[in-house]
Amino acid sequence: MRLYHRQLSNGFCKGHVMIKVGIVGGTGYTGVELLRLLAQHPQAEVAVITSRSEAGLRVDEMYPNLRGHYPELAFSVPDVATLGACDVVFFATPHGVAHALAGELLAAGTRVIDLSADFRLQDAEEWAKWYGQPHGAPELLSEAVYGLPEVNREAIKTARLIAVPGCYPTAAQLGLIPLLEAGLADASSLIADCKSGVSGAGRGASVASLFCEAGESMKAYSVKGHRHLPEIRQGLRLAAGGEVGLTFVPHLTPMIRGIHATLYARVADTSVDLQALFEKRYAGEPFVDVMPAGSHPETRSVRGGNVCRIAVHRPQGGDLVVVLSVIDNLVKGASGQAVQNMNILFGLDERLGLSHAALLP
Ligand SMILES: NC(=O)c1ccc[n+]([C@@H]2O[C@H](COP(=O)([O-])OP(=O)(O)OC[C@H]3O[C@@H](n4cnc5c(N)ncnc54)[C@H](OP(=O)(O)O)[C@@H]3O)[C@@H](O)[C@H]2O)c1
Repeated sequence: MRLYHRQLSNGFCKGHVMIKVGIVGGTGYTGVELLRLLAQHPQAEVAVITSRSEAGLRVDEMYPNLRGHYPELAFSVPDVATLGACDVVFFATPHGVAHALAGELLAAGTRVIDLSADFRLQDAEEWAKWYGQPHGAPELLSEAVYGLPEVNREAIKTARLIAVPGCYPTAAQLGLIPLLEAGLADASSLIADCKSGVSGAGRGASVASLFCEAGESMKAYSVKGHRHLPEIRQGLRLAAGGEVGLTFVPHLTPMIRGIHATLYARVADTSVDLQALFEKRYAGEPFVDVMPAGSHPETRSVRGGNVCRIAVHRPQGGDLVVVLSVIDNLVKGASGQAVQNMNILFGLDERLGLSHAALLP
């Protein structure tokens, strides 16, 4: 980390750190989103970005939206020595890759922020069951911090290894946590009915992601069990202080970005002011927006922004609470949350590089 001195308009010099960043997996959607966000970050510079398939190609040749931002930066093959010279390395890779490399980077003194699922589950056996392969680095699990700042901000400050939450898990947990922490919801019968845009599946070619397959249509998938189920359950269990019963049904929708979670929970006490409860829980949180009572948050209102917008309803005054929670899967659901974690980790203002408004329309 280098210390720079910047001349301020009042003539004084202000010292500030410049964080040297490496990204493994720079050609995917979360990788290019990291580049977009870090291009606006005043205290981070991307020094290394990897791709095995595009090594040698300049990043702005692949992603023209970055022209003018990274004139010198080209993809290179992953190399532990080069990555280990960075202050922090983001993994924007499929599961299993961070397992293989994180240990060596941590030994080199580099902090690791992993956007994949490699360190999200605390239980290595449960991870192996859901990901169909043995956990590749169980010895690192005890120090991995689940990077949901609204829950774990203090632990993130001193972490070396951060597991950035998944997209569905971010939207579902932020929506249900206030009810569970307050002991209001019946934790045995929670429902998360969630919709995702197609970029959630990554940039790799697959028939299901083709325009003619995903456009003008909507479908549920993995109803019998999706990999994000154990992750959401793990977070909700902590909030509830005990076991939870959760039905999680993901859907694919014909949009590029966005997650819309419709969350259902029964409450025994219908006299509690839920609007006040949610507003109090997220007061001071820079990236959770509790909307006015009666609101219906839209995914287009968070597109490109690092924000989760939430609205809480109790239809017809009954005992079934409906929480609506929307995020951009690539921002608060991945790369924006990863940068938020970096800011906390390095003692910076949490909003650095992330304070822009979402795109609308
Ligand atoms: N898309 C989302 O909305 C979203 C949200 C939250 C979390 N995530 C998670 O974030 C991670 C990245 O997602 P993505 O959607 O950006 O994926 P993606 O579009 O499929 O990109 C994957 C990247 O990883 C690199 N890569 C693949 N295998 C590698 C290996 N063995 N070693 C080194 N690099 C490798 C690829 O480049 P090369 O093959 O050229 O090296 C590519 O740049 C995944 O774990 C995903 O589950 C995604």
